[in-house]
Amino acid sequence: MTDRELKDLWFKFFEKHGFKRIPGASIIPENDPTVLFTTAGMHPLVPYLLGEKHPAGNKIFDVQRCIRTGDIDEVGDNSHLTCFEMLGNWFLGDCPKKDMIKLSYEFLTSKDYLNLPVDRLAVTVFEGDETAPRDEDAALAWKECGMKKVFYLPKENNWWALGGGVGPCGPDTEMFYDTGKQACGKECSPACDCGKYLEIWNDVFMQYKVENAGERAVKLDRPNIDTGMGLERTVMVLNGATSVYDSGCLKRAIDFIGCKAEVPYLASEKSKRSYRIIADHIRSATFILGDARGVVPSNVGQGYILRRFIRRAVNCARNINLNTDELVSLADIYVDEYGIDYSDIKANRERVREELIKEVNKFAKAIDDGHKEFEKVLNGIERHKQFAKEGEVVENIISGKACFRLYDTFGFPFELTKELALERGYQVDEDGFKKAFEEHQEKSRQASAGQFKGGLADGSKESAYLHTATHLLMAGLRKMFGPQVMQKGSNITPERLRLDFNLDHKMLPEEIKELEEFVNNAIAKAIPVTCDQMSVAEAKAKGAVGVFESKYGEVVKVYTIGEVSKEICGGPHASNTSDLHHLKIVKEESSSSGIRRIKAILD
Ligand code: ALA
Repeated sequence: MTDRELKDLWFKFFEKHGFKRIPGASIIPENDPTVLFTTAGMHPLVPYLLGEKHPAGNKIFDVQRCIRTGDIDEVGDNSHLTCFEMLGNWFLGDCPKKDMIKLSYEFLTSKDYLNLPVDRLAVTVFEGDETAPRDEDAALAWKECGMKKVFYLPKENNWWALGGGVGPCGPDTEMFYDTGKQACGKECSPACDCGKYLEIWNDVFMQYKVENAGERAVKLDRPNIDTGMGLERTVMVLNGATSVYDSGCLKRAIDFIGCKAEVPYLASEKSKRSYRIIADHIRSATFILGDARGVVPSNVGQGYILRRFIRRAVNCARNINLNTDELVSLADIYVDEYGIDYSDIKANRERVREELIKEVNKFAKAIDDGHKEFEKVLNGIERHKQFAKEGEVVENIISGKACFRLYDTFGFPFELTKELALERGYQVDEDGFKKAFEEHQEKSRQASAGQFKGGLADGSKESAYLHTATHLLMAGLRKMFGPQVMQKGSNITPERLRLDFNLDHKMLPEEIKELEEFVNNAIAKAIPVTCDQMSVAEAKAKGAVGVFESKYGEVVKVYTIGEVSKEICGGPHASNTSDLHHLKIVKEESSSSGIRRIKAILD
């Protein structure tokens, strides 16, 4: 099945059931300064979900282009994308839950539509909590249809709200395709990420709203139903493929790249990833450049993300010896495909081409300038050698700061610096680069937390708490698996923390539970978090752990959480562990070889 065929089936089905098609909205949200891009089909419909009357009536459907950049680093594996299309339908107001579930069942299983065997389907419903009751109505409606596998899950799985948490929200029922893979254990359910169950569709019963961040959900005067089906995922399932890149429109993109590049798709893990990143990022770039709201590459906001997409695609093109002109041809293919549903993309074909060419050339110049700068760095080291003092040893190492300057000021990819350095008999200080990179990320994170004040009033406080939670997690991991376990990366948004660390196995469910308990015990003990400044040597002597220990003997901050943790860190942190309330690990997955990744929230 192609993307087009699935869209047409969706349109036909909802038309038959008396819904009206509305055009998909811009990829740049009109009235929401808290996010850069439209992230879900319901996003442009928020005013209508909050009670305004929609001109097309109260039963509508569409296809919506969406961009979510939260998982940009994972693009290139089997499932992550920065852009996707969402098929959606809505009951505004008068919304019989049972009717929507019947419609969902019919679309999924009828031979005129997706024709999926019911044995290969599973659904989840909300198990209930203090905000909303257990959703027995939804479970019963599914069972009456003939659905066999119905799972009850808690809020973190079966409650849907926009990223910032503000706006219409409610319990949902999610539909999964069972790949037929062996269950990972007795507890295996659609909540785990072992790959047995893939979510394809979500019906949200929007009966509540949150007015300000952190507030409780209150009942909406007029409830709605909001549904969203992931197009790429569903096409993948229908074609029996195991990756979103191996079916539908993205496969056509991969095939096109394959005809033009010198290195084949499956030559190596690196080439496969490069193909996929190009297919994904050029599609996102086409969505943004083709949009009626006219964003072009720049150093801020959406323009910055667009620049990153294009430059990363150019780097990947270099990995597989693909002429960068072909990136423009690929964008043209996307304009043909998506111009059908989004007329602005078709109308802006020339702008897509011109801006892409401009940015690719600008980047080529940046790389040129970067080469010159690189030579200056090497000359600096050689001069240093010439004028070195007696006994001073000058090594052939390019400092982390110099690597970061090449990257940040000249847009020169770190991998390129490393490669050129090796060719010339030099090494690079990789840890130093990572440190400079993380410091920069932290600064921009703090800057953007400032930008979102109002929308996420206490964003920076939340982040500080998550930061403290990260230290507790690391302390727990070391206690459980030994002192060799180190932090390998961290990323914090106001909503969640992400922590990478080295470990030789996938954590077992009971290990995850043990870790969670370790952290929650420390929280329950209400331990004060203190901060001291000292030299690196002193910090080491005191047994502080530091991932990015500096060689230069400067003064560092050491954060201590009672007897539990002592880490060299820039902060900021909570002042007492009790501020954290309760930690929940929501995901444990592989990040790269030998590195595990945990995502956790404070609830
Ligand atoms: N708004 C719901 C989602 O994005 C349907 O999953």
